[in-house]
Amino acid sequence: RMPLYVDCDTGIDDALALCYLVASPEIDLVGIGTVSGNVSSALAARNTLDLLALSGASCPVAVGAAHPLAGRFTEGAAHVHGDDGLGNHPLPAATTAPVEGDAADLLIALAHEWAGELRILAIGPLTNLAEALRREPRLPELVRDVTIMGGAALVPGNISPVAEANIGNDPEAAALVLAASWPVTLVPLDVTLSNPLLEADRMRLLESGRPVATALGGMLDFYFDFNATFYGERRSALHDPLAAAIAVGAVVPAVAPRVQVVVDTTGGPGRGQTICDLRGRFLGFPDQPGAHVRVVLSLADDFAPHLLERLLAL
Ligand code: BDR
Ligand code: CA
Repeated sequence: RMPLYVDCDTGIDDALALCYLVASPEIDLVGIGTVSGNVSSALAARNTLDLLALSGASCPVAVGAAHPLAGRFTEGAAHVHGDDGLGNHPLPAATTAPVEGDAADLLIALAHEWAGELRILAIGPLTNLAEALRREPRLPELVRDVTIMGGAALVPGNISPVAEANIGNDPEAAALVLAASWPVTLVPLDVTLSNPLLEADRMRLLESGRPVATALGGMLDFYFDFNATFYGERRSALHDPLAAAIAVGAVVPAVAPRVQVVVDTTGGPGRGQTICDLRGRFLGFPDQPGAHVRVVLSLADDFAPHLLERLLAL
């Protein structure tokens, strides 16, 4: 089993991803760090601990950066994930507490403990990863690979016309993480929006009689209402769980070229955009020599059935 560190801003789709990972035989969750994004990093840690307890799992959870590298975290995304980050759907409060030290400390310690083997999944803003790179410049040599839910390659953004939330909420951090010399798989809105969960799927979770699936089905009610504002019907994107499934190797991308990706860190209308050099599209998206970021553009199979199978087995 592969050791996996997860960095998250536990809202509703992060919750789906974490429960999916608990149900995944390919990996061992060896640590989780939280970051401010959907909610504050402190609340994200509480939500994470509650979800782990509900799913009968445990691993070190460290509170990470409260603010992005530049500017301040102020509001989060209560309109998307609810005031509590979990669709205003309270879970039993866990008795466990976050570990001492912050998320960057935890990531660095795990990278040394599992040198050459540790994999990273980042499903929130990339502040903790950027901070860990600053504290331990050898991190890219110690880590096996990094999978990131973030960006928008050929489709519009979701917090601005061009910026996706995880990148746009800390573009300076994203620029550092994407420039570092580790193999990165970027799972952008292009593929997360086109692999939705439908109301019939949500009802299967809700009516399963299984505690974790039922709780997730309840949380998704709120998320479906928000997603309906841009899908035109009650359904939801599966951003973070899809990145999780790609990170563990259970879902294989169909089209995923290795290309140059840079993040716009200017103060103009392009701030937070992931500029992916996809000019090779007319040649079938060939890899660019020297590029170390793989941009997932499509999958071989529908994702929702696989996700449901694992969540319903918990
Ligand atoms: C990403 O932003 C957050 O709201 C979600 O949890 C996901 O990680 C989607 O843009
Ligand atoms: Ca997230």
